[in-house]
Amino acid sequence: MDINQITNKEQKEALAKKISEKVENGQTIGFGSGSTSYLTAIEIGKKVKENNLKIKAIPTSNDIEEVCKQYEIEIGNLVEDKIDWAFDGADEVDSNNNMIKGMGRAMFKEKLNILNSPKTYILVDDTKFVEKLGEKHPIPIEVFPSAMNYVSNELKKLGAIETTFRGMTENGNAIIDAKFENIYYDTNKNLEKDIKKITGVIESGLFLGYNVEVVKD
Ligand code: A5P
Repeated sequence: MDINQITNKEQKEALAKKISEKVENGQTIGFGSGSTSYLTAIEIGKKVKENNLKIKAIPTSNDIEEVCKQYEIEIGNLVEDKIDWAFDGADEVDSNNNMIKGMGRAMFKEKLNILNSPKTYILVDDTKFVEKLGEKHPIPIEVFPSAMNYVSNELKKLGAIETTFRGMTENGNAIIDAKFENIYYDTNKNLEKDIKKITGVIESGLFLGYNVEVVKD
């Protein structure tokens, strides 16, 4: 990641500092992805080095794993380790902490970290708050490559007005960006669950009703 290309960097750095203060010796921490998480990983790395702390990281992308290695932070995994707490960024957050994530294509592992962590801090600068999810971003969907056409057609049946292939993930799957005008979520209907039911969908960047704490500058 090119640190000079990061937008809204001052706000993201302030968030990174705030989160690094929570790090304690011996903890296993879930590291999210994206530029805010990248800056946070660096801040945590510095703290760990300066204070000679020993922590374990569960990273969600190659970029973040690289930072951990630079600062000699041990890499753990979700099979053998238990996360104490996690942090991550988001692309859109509404007033109920529902989110769209995955513009960095790492939402599968990000969702796994959130689900495996008793506490996740979501670090958001001013640009991330929306009145209605889907205002600014499509929903990124990770799809088994040969299922791409089938999944696109099924997404249209659920209400997607546009589906675009964006590229591949670090897991070797395809990313389809699906634009929805109506992201529904109540006790009877849940778009995240409906997307997940489509054969070939690995995971979506919709996070509806997750246990997260939103942290702003
Ligand atoms: C990565 O796949 C995403 O979910 C990121 O967490 C999200 O895109 C936020 O990224 P920034 O911190 O770069 O805005």
